[in-house]
Amino acid sequence: MHEFDEEIDSLAAKILEYSLIRLKKDPPLDGPWSYEELYSEVGETITAKGLGGDKALDIFKHVLAQACISTDHPRYLAFIPSAPTESATLFDLVVGASALYGGSWLEGAGAVFAENQALRWLSDLADFPSSSGGVFVQGGTIGNLSALVAARHGARAKYPGVKRWVIAASSQAHSSIKSAADVMDVEVLIIPTDKNEKMQASTTAFEIDKYHQANPDHRVFAVVATAGSTNLGIIDDLKGVGQIANERGIWYHIDGAYGLAALASPRSKALFSGIELADSFIVDPHKWLFAPFDACALIYKDPEIARGAHTQHAGYLETLDSGQWNPSDYAIHLTRRVRGLPFWFSLATHGTNKYAESMDKTMDLARASAELIKEHPNLELLMEPELSIVAFRRKGWQASDYQRWSDKLLLDQIGFVTPSSHQGEPILRFAIVNPWTSITDIKVILATL
Ligand SMILES: Cc1ncc(COP(=O)(O)O)c(C=O)c1O
Repeated sequence: MHEFDEEIDSLAAKILEYSLIRLKKDPPLDGPWSYEELYSEVGETITAKGLGGDKALDIFKHVLAQACISTDHPRYLAFIPSAPTESATLFDLVVGASALYGGSWLEGAGAVFAENQALRWLSDLADFPSSSGGVFVQGGTIGNLSALVAARHGARAKYPGVKRWVIAASSQAHSSIKSAADVMDVEVLIIPTDKNEKMQASTTAFEIDKYHQANPDHRVFAVVATAGSTNLGIIDDLKGVGQIANERGIWYHIDGAYGLAALASPRSKALFSGIELADSFIVDPHKWLFAPFDACALIYKDPEIARGAHTQHAGYLETLDSGQWNPSDYAIHLTRRVRGLPFWFSLATHGTNKYAESMDKTMDLARASAELIKEHPNLELLMEPELSIVAFRRKGWQASDYQRWSDKLLLDQIGFVTPSSHQGEPILRFAIVNPWTSITDIKVILATL
């Protein structure tokens, strides 16, 4: 199993050939198969003697891969898709082949150095000081949780008498904030949004102060604002909310898992004014920064607080020099893949200007799509897109009509667009993060509505 013999050599050629063909040709859309369909095609794959690499690869190529939707298909516009650059995906192969450990400087210095340069680019875009730093974690959910754990760690030291800890977040915050609160066994104070679904400073201040007055032994330890909500791409009042958090000595976290990628475009940087007030933020390169799954950049203004919260201690770990940058110390994890390297390689290869151009291209397409929707006799645009999510209604349709249409769109292999809801009403949304998506793709989908 561990020798690179002739059989493995021939398998290697087939795996590389498959990977290159997948990269070179247009991605298939494909779709889910039922368990019964899969089982009848594949049967039991785990056997005492093994199937052999050729057979296992064939099963993957001809059945398993076809039962998965390609998230980089230009008409995959559901949830938040992904659109890795060719160079980022290719470098993922290198990372897989290189047995790199990304938890400590001792073991992964070169890789950690490169990851940190990619993180530095993001910190600079956010006007964070040079002392800031962070780590690539698995996804936005773990990024948000790790930041909030660091925030509570800092608050516990400052306010030892507090009986109950609370996160303030808007009703539009991502579901991972509630999930983090559950894991941490803390409360969430929901801040109502304005009519445009933005979290505003005055309401945030009012709700937090009211809560503190009514609950003197409880304390809000973090305010979470969203820079690009998942459903509609809305950016909260980052400056105003940051000011009220800073004035009250409350940790300010910005969840920019999807939207903060647009910081890469000088044209949209102003949308994020106030990010410099944050104590931490996240942005997922696997969403709109053209990296493969799974990579969330988590950045702290003062990484020492995070290190205090997250460093694991054990006899076998003491050999790691705490004076060096050990990525494991900045989030909830120990062993880690150097998941930021494909992103770094692509950034290093193409340069940051190309990133700005690609962001602008997707945002321009979102605006052009909104225009088409406004002209469409059956559709109603929900709001002008602020980033690259376009949300709209189909006049006269019930929730079941939306679902039927979405199922058929996938079945006909036209596209993948799933229904969502807004204020209790069903809606459709296009999340455009793929520079390969064209106005023709959008027209093809709109023609089915
Ligand atoms: C705003 C926001 N935050 C957090 C997340 C969670 O990220 P992940 O799915 O990488 O855990 C998402 C995912 O879509 C998101 O849109």
